[in-house]
Amino acid sequence: MPRKRVIGNWKMNGTIASNARLLREIKDDMAIAALTIDAAVCVPFLHVSETQRILTGTALKWGVQDISAFREGAYTGEISADMVAEFGATYAIVGHSERRSHHAEALTTVGAKALRAIEAGITPVVCVGETLREREDGAARETVETQLLAVLDSLPADQMHSLVLAYEPVWAIGTGRSASPRQAQEMHEFLRRLLRTRSESLADTTILYGGSVKPAAAADLFAQNDIDGALVGGASLEAGPFLDIIRLAANHAGA
Ligand code: 13P
Repeated sequence: MPRKRVIGNWKMNGTIASNARLLREIKDDMAIAALTIDAAVCVPFLHVSETQRILTGTALKWGVQDISAFREGAYTGEISADMVAEFGATYAIVGHSERRSHHAEALTTVGAKALRAIEAGITPVVCVGETLREREDGAARETVETQLLAVLDSLPADQMHSLVLAYEPVWAIGTGRSASPRQAQEMHEFLRRLLRTRSESLADTTILYGGSVKPAAAADLFAQNDIDGALVGGASLEAGPFLDIIRLAANHAGA
C-alpha cells in the first residue's frame, strides 16, 4: 500500500512574512514529526529560499507549483527543475488544471515537465482531471486516461514509479463542491488499473485526491481503498485545517 501523503498547494497567495509564519505554525506542530505520512506544502517560487531556511531539518517537506519543460537556456521567465532542486525541493506539481487552462499547457508539455522533475531528483505531482462538461458528456475517464498516458509516454519505463498522481476534477477545485468519496474512489480505481496495465510495479503509485478537500470531508475520502491522500488548496492556507487533514490521513495510514 502506498505511503499516505498530504500536500498543500498554496497557489498565488501570501507574502514572504505571512507564508513564513504559516510554515512555522505547521512545522512547529510536533505531532507531524511522529506521523507515518508525508506532509508537504508547494509554495510560490519567490518563497523557496525562505522555505528552505525554515524547513530544512524538519519533517515537513516542500515543493513548487510548476517547473519549466526545458532543461536550461534561452527561456525568458522560466524556472528549471535543477534550479528548484538546488534549494532542496521534494515535489513539483505539474499539469495543474489552472496551468492547463490559463497557460494552454499541452499534454506533451506536462509530460516534459514530469521528466525534467525526475531528472532533477524531484517527485512530480502529476495532476489529471476532467471538466464538468466532460463529466456530463460521459468523457471523464477518457480525459484523465489521455492526460495520464501522455505523461507515462514521456517517461522512461524505469522512471515511471517516481511520480505521484493527483486526481483533481476541475469542477471540484475551489468550488466547495468536493467529489463524493464514491466518485473519487471510482476514478482512483480506474487510474490505478491504467497504471497497472502499463506495469505491475506502478500499482503502488500514490494517487492523491484534490478538489475542495476540507477536514469535514477528508476522513471519508481517506477511508477509500485507492485514495492515498490529498492535494489541498484553500484549506492549506491556514495551519489549523491543514494540520487536521494531515492527522486524518495519518489515522488511515497503513490501514
Ligand atoms: P481547493 O482545495 O481550493 O479546491 O484546490 C484544490 C487544488 O487545486 C489543489 O491543487
